[in-house]
Amino acid sequence: MDKILVIGAAGQLGSELTRALADQFGGDQVIATDLRATASSLFPYCRFEVLDVMDKDALGTLVKKEKVTQIYHLAAVLSATGEKNPHFAWQLNMDSLLYVLELAKEQALAKIYWPSSIAVFGPGTPKINTPQFCEKNPNTVYGISKLAGEGWCNYYFEKYGVDVRSLRYPGLIGYKSLPGGGTTDYAVDIYHKAIAKQPFTCFLSEDSYLPMMYMPDAIKATLDLMNAPREAIKIRSSYNLAGISFSPKEIFESISKQVPGFEIKYQPDFRQAIADSWPDSIDDSYARANWRWQPSYDLDGMTQDILTHLPTFFPSQT
Ligand code: SER
Repeated sequence: MDKILVIGAAGQLGSELTRALADQFGGDQVIATDLRATASSLFPYCRFEVLDVMDKDALGTLVKKEKVTQIYHLAAVLSATGEKNPHFAWQLNMDSLLYVLELAKEQALAKIYWPSSIAVFGPGTPKINTPQFCEKNPNTVYGISKLAGEGWCNYYFEKYGVDVRSLRYPGLIGYKSLPGGGTTDYAVDIYHKAIAKQPFTCFLSEDSYLPMMYMPDAIKATLDLMNAPREAIKIRSSYNLAGISFSPKEIFESISKQVPGFEIKYQPDFRQAIADSWPDSIDDSYARANWRWQPSYDLDGMTQDILTHLPTFFPSQT
């Protein structure tokens, strides 16, 4: 029977993916871990342990003691925060991945999941329908660490047969938790302001297109990838993955249809240069062909769902 360890479970992706994993495998088979002890309240449906992924020994002991078979390693420093402390971002993002891959090799773990990002692309990358294989010149430490990590994943698969799988997520948008330190975070924050009936100040310009994805699609993609047979996974670095592409102006217009009088102003900051270096949209035909990926949500569908459900999760804002 599979035993699942989620590292960084209290983050934006982890808090929703852990729930989905508990639904699939049973709460008893899932261990959520995070740096913060206070995160335990998020996981009434499964076991919770405090774990600093940089503590290699503690990680190894937990995996062996609990007979873990799969690790979802979600802890990372994202793009905007990474630029403030590049060496720390590199160390955390890289060392932790190598600990997990090495453990997977030593303990013959069944599967590893590790997220990559659109941040692997940079200046020189084709911006529209960015192909799976093309020039990549990441210019953030986050993107550099993700691109190097993709190489390590492929290396551990080729050399040691570690079944590690990965997706290049677009900006993830959900209403159940807040993102932390990314360039795409504005597309979550904007809904909180709309619900609170406050004007929104956007840190990107109105026409900055970025690839994005609604969280239910991201969860589905992750589970589809991880549940696919080993031989279906043809790409062992990381798969391009596309949901929706829009600009701040377009998400504002989508919200305004349902929140009349909502106001926005644009004050681009250092994150504009990061956004400008990333694709506008992504070609994910390998994911569609290899394991039948298909997104469900468009921009208006996402907006409607978030505006309906967000007040229940953050009641203080209404
Ligand atoms: N959402 C991430 C960021 O903005 C990109 O993967 O850093």
